[in-house]
Amino acid sequence: MSTVYALLFIVATLVMVVGLALKIKQYANTPAPLKIPTTPAPTTEAGVVMRLFREVVFFESLFKSTKWTWIFSWMFHMALFVVLLRHIRYFIDDVWLPIVLIQPFGKYAGFVMVIGLAGLFARRILVDRVRYISAPSDYLWLVVLLFIGFSGLMMSFVSHTDVTMVKQYFTGVWTFSGGELPMDFPLMVHLLLVALLMILFPFSKLLHVPGLFFSPGRNQVDNPREKRHLAPWAKTLEEQE
Ligand code: HEM
Ligand code: HEM
Repeated sequence: MSTVYALLFIVATLVMVVGLALKIKQYANTPAPLKIPTTPAPTTEAGVVMRLFREVVFFESLFKSTKWTWIFSWMFHMALFVVLLRHIRYFIDDVWLPIVLIQPFGKYAGFVMVIGLAGLFARRILVDRVRYISAPSDYLWLVVLLFIGFSGLMMSFVSHTDVTMVKQYFTGVWTFSGGELPMDFPLMVHLLLVALLMILFPFSKLLHVPGLFFSPGRNQVDNPREKRHLAPWAKTLEEQE
């Protein structure tokens, strides 16, 4: 079983890394022929950097549109971030000090993550206009992430797994030299769903992570009068004339 999981994680990592790289390349090469920043928009490059920063850290535009979605979504994403930082200790040997310091917070961030996800799930079911536009994959992601959260919390608070063995396993997973994975049910479920998440990442709505940075509405400077906007392909045409 340990070998099956090692193979699964190697495949999942390759699919995620190569898939994301190809998607990012595709996004970077997609022409943005029009000047369409969502106004009011910054008029300088530094302003755009700040706008993206506020978008990523505070979910500014979501905050301006719906407070309920914002609170649950922000709780989920920020808690996920802390949880993932805490997980770094399973993959490196000399754990960096900030990761050591974050451990107690990471453990409880799991609860915040699950509460946020439950709120987002309730929203999809209870709000008529959101239910109307929800596709199966919208529910699927929330369910997958909820089960990852539940199984993780089970291990942290109810039925512990051998974390040292997990770490040893994952530091050697690439070369199949990490030894055995503890065969605990919550861990098996946790890892299976994480591998599923990694494999589906480059083909799903989780592409909003790189996508945000390529969104013309968010990443363009509002300066059409000062500087003529030309997509790279249009520039080449002009040079040929
Ligand atoms: C740069 C990092 C990220 C940013 C800025 C970001 C931002 C957002 C925003 C603005 C939304 C729309 C609001 C909402 O519907 O909740 C959203 C939705 C969502 N995000 Fe992210 N996200 C990030 C990373 C991630 C990651 C790493 C995951 C999971 C592994 C994730 C999972 C989701 C899911 C499942 C939804 C849909 C929730 C729902 O409406 O049902 N996000 N994200
Ligand atoms: C290969 C990747 C992963 C491994 C090896 C792993 C392993 C673990 C282990 C061993 C625990 C129990 C910690 C303890 O007993 O103290 C745990 C907890 C947890 N995991 Fe994961 N996990 C992985 C990926 C993920 C991902 C991608 C997410 C989120 C989407 C996640 C969410 C959680 C949560 C919420 C907890 C409970 C809170 C905590 O202890 O931090 N895990 N994980």
